[in-house]
Amino acid sequence: TPAKPLTGLKFVITAGPTREAIDPVRYISNHSSGKMGYALAAAAAKLGAEVTLISGPVQLTTPTGVSRIDVASAIEMQQAALTAAQTHDIFIGCAAVADYRMAEVAPQKLKKTADNDVLTLQLVKNPDIIASIAALTSHRPYTVGFAAETEQVAQYAQQKLLNKNLDLICANDVSVAGQGFNSEQNALTVYGPQFEQALPLQDKNTLAQALITLIVEQYQNEKKH
Ligand code: C5P
Repeated sequence: TPAKPLTGLKFVITAGPTREAIDPVRYISNHSSGKMGYALAAAAAKLGAEVTLISGPVQLTTPTGVSRIDVASAIEMQQAALTAAQTHDIFIGCAAVADYRMAEVAPQKLKKTADNDVLTLQLVKNPDIIASIAALTSHRPYTVGFAAETEQVAQYAQQKLLNKNLDLICANDVSVAGQGFNSEQNALTVYGPQFEQALPLQDKNTLAQALITLIVEQYQNEKKH
């Protein structure tokens, strides 16, 4: 039987895009595939961890042994995340959360009219889910975020680590073709307040295993101090 070194550890992972309704038939979203979050959930579960996967709408099957909670909007994802955080040890925010949602969702389908060539939608900022988890004053899980950047990757990632009060951030250079967003492969550099480690370009599943191992090492380190 395979070793289950993470038995007893509880992870909550957000994955995929969020979907923000415009009206009953339309929405705002993004191209996140959810692959990285699902790969992390699968890797942690395989090593014996208890995993809750809070998923936006994606075309992926639930990994073996993972409890999946389906959500659509950022507000729904935040509610599920805050509830799950209370009972989990490690939070990984992998979701590509929409930055804005409709100020008011139209109750009926918006109609195009002959005299309106321009349609303006009023949007309001969504909550920062991972920042709200990291700001918890009781039952705060060890909190790990992602930063997809196209330039000054290290600097922007380290800023997000500080601004969102995270324990670790996994920086992703999405300007490089064939890695990150919607790709099968990825490379990351992981930063903590006093920590930096590069994980080279590899298949998302092997990268996920390496990343889960790294996160657990840093989490155990933190708990000792
Ligand atoms: O600020 P930015 O969107 O680049 O931060 C990315 C990190 O923050 C990811 O871990 C993402 O899951 C998380 N995030 C979030 N809620 C938001 C925006 C980002 O949890 N509204």
